[in-house]
Amino acid sequence: MKLISNPTSDDSKKAAVALTHGNLVIFPTETVYGIGADASNSQAINRIYRIKNRPNSSPLIVHISNIRNLIHWASDVPNYAKTLGNTFWPGPMTLILKRSTGVSDLLTGGQSSVGIRVPSNRIAQDLLLEFENLGGLGIAAPSANRHGEVSATTADAAQEVFGDEGISGDLILNGGTCEYGIESTIINCTDASPSILRPGVITPELIEVYTGITCNPSKNSHGVIAPGMSLKHYAPQTKILINQLPEKGDGLIAGGDFPTPPGVVRIASPKNLFEYAKTLYQSFEKADSLKVKRLCIYLPDSESGIAEAIKDRVLKAASR
Ligand code: TXA
Ligand code: MG
Repeated sequence: MKLISNPTSDDSKKAAVALTHGNLVIFPTETVYGIGADASNSQAINRIYRIKNRPNSSPLIVHISNIRNLIHWASDVPNYAKTLGNTFWPGPMTLILKRSTGVSDLLTGGQSSVGIRVPSNRIAQDLLLEFENLGGLGIAAPSANRHGEVSATTADAAQEVFGDEGISGDLILNGGTCEYGIESTIINCTDASPSILRPGVITPELIEVYTGITCNPSKNSHGVIAPGMSLKHYAPQTKILINQLPEKGDGLIAGGDFPTPPGVVRIASPKNLFEYAKTLYQSFEKADSLKVKRLCIYLPDSESGIAEAIKDRVLKAASR
């Protein structure tokens, strides 16, 4: 795959054309990098599943530039979902909605719902606008990592995994490090009231404050397959230990006031929750590349929504 650094609007146009030809384009979003394909092109979508080693039963998120384009993908959108979209899009939130007729089973893993997101990242927006100018309806994009591995939050990480793969015309748009570093909040909007399927930086507290809407924290609701159900998810190769004192040769992620014991490799010292989220996956990569014996992680000592999202990712990474 060819890497384009600091993509200009001309590059976004080129990438949009590539998508119309059935190529894959890896692009930055404010959460993590996505590996994108024309959401209306079954062959291109199949390439995503193959290149990621991802089971076809795991549905993809369709990215659109604007809430108005929901009409192509979703039907019977409840009022609360419209409020959520109008309040938090463009931004790090995915809504699971009843799919429109004609939306392919390939995208939805055969479910009657479809995941939709409007990202705010400038390069993602440029790409979507150019693609929609060419008649495209949406870009299907899972995180740019192999199935079960750590999501890429830099173009370098994506290039390391996919750089030598792909076909002529596939591209990687380098937009630097992702702003938030963990995947979008996923909210199931197929029931009478919303529920969080995957925690993220759009937290139930934030939703309540901005919209007055209460989200059920339930991990699952009938018929909907919750993301990240497989145990090996967001996982580095290194074994993770949680809230345990590291020994010589171990790596350590802990708040800045936590001292590094002798012989222990300090991987990260996040100063706040946003920095914790933003650097988490890069820290996993660093621990793997330094081949630390084990990775000891002290979870954030907070009950806030973003702390929940961080704990969710660390616990999933640890449970294998
Ligand atoms: O931040 C993000 O959401 C990133 C960026 C690239 O947008 N994307 C992302 O995609 O994390 P992915 O495929 O790695 O994770 C999406 C999760 C999957 O675990 C999938 O199961 C779930 O969303 N999902 C997608 N469509 C769904 C649906 N119709 N019903 C239930 N879950 C769905
Ligand atoms: Mg993923």
